[in-house]
Amino acid sequence: MEPDLVLKPLVSGLLREVLDAPGRLTEMVAALGSPLNVVVPQQIETNAAQYRAVYGRHRLRGAIYFAHKANRSSALIRQLAAGSCGVDVASLGELQHALEAGFTGARLMATGPKDTEFLWLAARVGAMINVDSCEELVELAELVGRFALAPVRVMIRLSAFDSPGVTIASRRSRFGIHARELASGFDILDRHRDLLDLRGMAYHLDTTGLDEKARALEGCLLAVHEAQARGFTPDAIDIGGGFGVNYLRDRGEWDRYTTEFGKAVLGTRAPMTWQNHGYGLRTEAGTLRGTLGLYPAHRDLAGADYLDELLGRESPSLGRPLATLLLEGLYDLHIEPGRGLTDQCGLTLARVSQVRTNAAGDVLVAVAANSRDISTEDHAVLMDPILVSRTPGADEPVGVYLTGNLCLEDDFITRRQVTLPRVPVAGDLLAFVNTAGYFMDFAADHALMQPIARKVAVYPAEGGWTWCLDEQYWPVKGNRA
Ligand SMILES: Cc1ncc(COP(=O)(O)O)c(C=O)c1O
Repeated sequence: MEPDLVLKPLVSGLLREVLDAPGRLTEMVAALGSPLNVVVPQQIETNAAQYRAVYGRHRLRGAIYFAHKANRSSALIRQLAAGSCGVDVASLGELQHALEAGFTGARLMATGPKDTEFLWLAARVGAMINVDSCEELVELAELVGRFALAPVRVMIRLSAFDSPGVTIASRRSRFGIHARELASGFDILDRHRDLLDLRGMAYHLDTTGLDEKARALEGCLLAVHEAQARGFTPDAIDIGGGFGVNYLRDRGEWDRYTTEFGKAVLGTRAPMTWQNHGYGLRTEAGTLRGTLGLYPAHRDLAGADYLDELLGRESPSLGRPLATLLLEGLYDLHIEPGRGLTDQCGLTLARVSQVRTNAAGDVLVAVAANSRDISTEDHAVLMDPILVSRTPGADEPVGVYLTGNLCLEDDFITRRQVTLPRVPVAGDLLAFVNTAGYFMDFAADHALMQPIARKVAVYPAEGGWTWCLDEQYWPVKGNRA
């Protein structure tokens, strides 16, 4: 593997300082086991401030709801409870967790598939309910009536819809109400005006495409107008999450890597992945086919900047910037970033347990963690780990495969060969950075009775940083001088 085929991760803030202390990290892993997740609660507030600055630039109001699903950490949720963000909870467990951390229903948005228990508790505590279907609206009205609850604030999540003159196409989703069903939704709301309080329209699109999102935002504006025509008084639009993260420090590295990767799948250069795995690409009769199914790990536009760009876009059929339309309608703008808010909020440490060379000459580095503990591969995000060693040796870059601790052929931390500065030895650590958004605990389980990673929170302290177990972190610790 050529040494220039690297995908060096972007590391900043407290994570950088944490990585600069290999001795401490080795001790932490010795005490708490491998893998070990590290979260940086204060970083999530720093990130939220960047989104808030975009609101300020466009003179918009509204709430930032952290999509809890991105991370199970208590420290992150408690840190947010101390600030002004809300939480987007997508399960009964997440709702209970947010309430325990200090949130009240007023700052919660319930999204996703909802069973009756989740719906009831969300309604009971006065959370905003982002309704997914007409059936859910009916069930919610029945619960509110039966238990004599206070009227519940609802947003209607739209999936795809048509509008006069323009076909507003968004990718097919199993969530949300189609525009054609909207009239039925209004009928249900009409029948239950005393129980359900329509606050606005919502969408969440799993795409990086700005055009698609601009069309969806415009579609929500049009649906709000329809609601007003039916005598409702909606005042908000919720555009979900999906603002993304830039994981890599260098665009050139990413471009070089993906160009060479295409050649590898074609067979015109040496394979770059285990058994020349193509991440969606394949060769047919000497031609590259398929679609590269990778997250764009280097992004020029991500996070708060992406939101800024979206708001500055012209509405395709209404013809003015989306932010202007929101401002003129005096609509609140709600967002639900998950990945974007967890940028630089954590890393995962894994101890090297064995290094061997197979008959084909591949160097296999086995780590005490598996592909569910560090699920970058599952989310198709490619970035190199950082070798954390207490005994630095002379650098001699080497391409290695990182294998996991499950007795499964496909348990690779990544199927791609990664370049390390030298061959590691058992006991060294690998740090996988920027894992706080979906990669550290979304899929972690006890397969083969392997341990699930412990989690620690790190925060600034005199002379640098200190840490505690995630469940022992409360914001009062981090804010101490
Ligand atoms: C309804 C909803 N809101 C917000 C999010 C967060 O998306 P992201 O982490 O890409 O910002 C998701 C992710 O699946 C979602 O389903």
